[in-house]
Amino acid sequence: MLNGKKIVLGVTGGIAAYKSATLVSKLVQKGADVHVIMTASAQQFITELTLQSLSKNPVYSDTFDEREPSVVSHINLADLADLVIVAPATANMIAKMAHGLADDMLSTTLLATTAPIMVAPAMNVHMYQHPAVIENMRILSSRGVSFIEPGEGLLACGYVGKGRMEEPESIVQIIEQFFSEATSATSNKPRLLEGRKIVVTAGGTIERIDPVRYITNDSSGKMGVAIAKAARDMGAEVVLVAGHIDVTPPADIHVVQVQSAQEMYDAVLELWEDSDIVIKAAAVADYRPRKASDRKMKKSGDTMSLELVKTVDILEQLGLRKKSQFLIGFAAETNNMETYAREKLARKNCDLMVANDVTSEGAGFRSETNIVQIYDALGLVEQLPMLSKEEVAHRLLTITAARIGGAHS
Ligand code: CTP
Repeated sequence: MLNGKKIVLGVTGGIAAYKSATLVSKLVQKGADVHVIMTASAQQFITELTLQSLSKNPVYSDTFDEREPSVVSHINLADLADLVIVAPATANMIAKMAHGLADDMLSTTLLATTAPIMVAPAMNVHMYQHPAVIENMRILSSRGVSFIEPGEGLLACGYVGKGRMEEPESIVQIIEQFFSEATSATSNKPRLLEGRKIVVTAGGTIERIDPVRYITNDSSGKMGVAIAKAARDMGAEVVLVAGHIDVTPPADIHVVQVQSAQEMYDAVLELWEDSDIVIKAAAVADYRPRKASDRKMKKSGDTMSLELVKTVDILEQLGLRKKSQFLIGFAAETNNMETYAREKLARKNCDLMVANDVTSEGAGFRSETNIVQIYDALGLVEQLPMLSKEEVAHRLLTITAARIGGAHS
């Protein structure tokens, strides 16, 4: 899978830099051509010689150390990469990337590359949760950078929490998956949605109660991400508006990260006018706390009541604004599927409604598969058997493409 793939690995200055040796070794064993760039701080943790010996390529750390007169090294590395991965990525490097700073070899290469970028953060748990770091990661993921979430456990600083760089074995798997998806995207799938602009929402929204508590639901985002991938494979220009999701979207899909129903509404509305198809696979909270407390709420009394108010119904609002857009909703039900799905389709002015019984085995929120029925205003369009979410996505988009009349010139 990785044979001949050119991977630029940026190593920054965290204790997890020692893991980059294993990462390089495993990538090379799989046939990748790995080019390492280290920051000055990374050199405090691991030597150039180690990574050079393992990668069998020169290791770069100084922008001005031009070893080959015929090329400018950072541009050359930026251009040759099929993928750039920063592992470990410190809070400092994430901040530089988010704000376009280019003051060393790695940040300069990151700014110059047009290759997909993956980032594997590693830092102290409090740094990882700092609003500045969260905001920087949000900025980057909205630009299409994908993150390999750190694991939880004992950190080198003595804290137990989230911030430990994902293990090299898992990172290699994610990279392999990335290349396998990129290959299948360019393989012989019919490009029925060429030139179409598609917005897909995925995952559950998060409605804040206070800084440490929130209301959410069981949605994993798998269905929405599968639709986004299938749409990309069929030639569409895709934006994924993601709430809380448990899966990493492919690096070449533009992701707008949101939390609440209101944020999801704002993000979708901004894209609405320009969209050909909007697919609302997200599980949007119907209610939110009337007021999110900006301080942690203290315990008092034996009972407590939380006053909830209705969130905006995004799909209904889109239905009201619909002009040429093709609108698809999802209805997760536990009973009376057909009645509820058709009622929602009419109330929200959708073109298609995808209904699933979340209580059946092999369907619903966290499952890898789904069993859906697709309705339009006249009734059942298609009842699908248990299929992978990828296959469901593909069937749904094939029906959609047929209804909107082929590729967009
Ligand atoms: N939806 C939305 N905004 C909301 C609630 C739902 O856009 N505030 C969308 C969902 O993304 C989904 C569709 O509406 O595509 C149906 O969601 P669902 O929760 O099943 O429907 P509700 O209208 O909330 O009805 P109920 O919860 O009573 O079943």
